[in-house]
Amino acid sequence: MELTVNNLSYAYGEQRVLRELSFHVGDGEFVSILGPSGCGKSTLLNVLAGILSPQGGEVRIDKVPVSGIDGRLAYMPQNDLLLPWKTILDNVCLYGEIHHRKKEMREQARVQMKRFGLGGCEDKYPTELSGGMRQRAAFLRTTLCEAGIYLLDEPFGALDVITRGEMQDWLKDLCTKLKKTLLLVTHDTDEAIYLSDRILILGAPGAGILKEITVKAENRTREWLYEQGGLRAEIHRIIKGENT
Ligand SMILES: Nc1ncnc2c1ncn2[C@@H]1O[C@H](COP(=O)(O)OP(=O)(O)OP(=O)(O)O)[C@@H](O)[C@H]1O
Ligand SMILES: [Mg+2]
Repeated sequence: MELTVNNLSYAYGEQRVLRELSFHVGDGEFVSILGPSGCGKSTLLNVLAGILSPQGGEVRIDKVPVSGIDGRLAYMPQNDLLLPWKTILDNVCLYGEIHHRKKEMREQARVQMKRFGLGGCEDKYPTELSGGMRQRAAFLRTTLCEAGIYLLDEPFGALDVITRGEMQDWLKDLCTKLKKTLLLVTHDTDEAIYLSDRILILGAPGAGILKEITVKAENRTREWLYEQGGLRAEIHRIIKGENT
């Protein structure tokens, strides 16, 4: 599925955060968004997910305009939003429950929870887990959604460096195998380089896209990533406003 954003605008009162923003994510493409804190990344994802209504412009999926919450999109917000009264397993299987596939999803979820280091947490409640564990549960819940387009807002921000690397590899494999369309918000430049086909760099609120970078790689490995010093430096210069 492809996602098209045309002249999208959003303001909180007088503060214009998104100003006529346009971009496109192709079918099966992995696009990351980088930008300074407060520039409007989460606002953008909230608008795309139908939680906030745009004050101008439109969003299309496969050329059809989207209005409100759309089942073709799966969204992992920046705060994990696990339901405190449900166990971790029930939280992870939330979409299975909504779509009447609970039993089948519970089996799948139990297997994945072990892989995600959440084995033994099935019957615990969100408050009993660490921030990183809750984030992995929320990530698993999102990936178990049968959507065509995934919107992820800093999904690995609370994880230690080893677990973060494992989750990135898992997401990379998932995208390669299932050819999902993905829009990832991150503060981690290496994460964006490692995973993305394209990186969009946003400027200050309302400034829009400062630069679009296509990442070309035959075979993405950690070794390949370490060699991307030039690209990393270029991205940092643009974010700091030194190259615009
Ligand atoms: N509910 C709200 N009411 C008023 N202003 C808001 C609200 N949510 C966000 N803002 C403001 O809009 C701007 C963009 O916020 P947003 O959360 O989209 O930034 P962000 O790029 O996701 O930042 P971060 O990288 O820190 O997560 C900020 O100045 C923020 O203070
Ligand atoms: Mg944010």
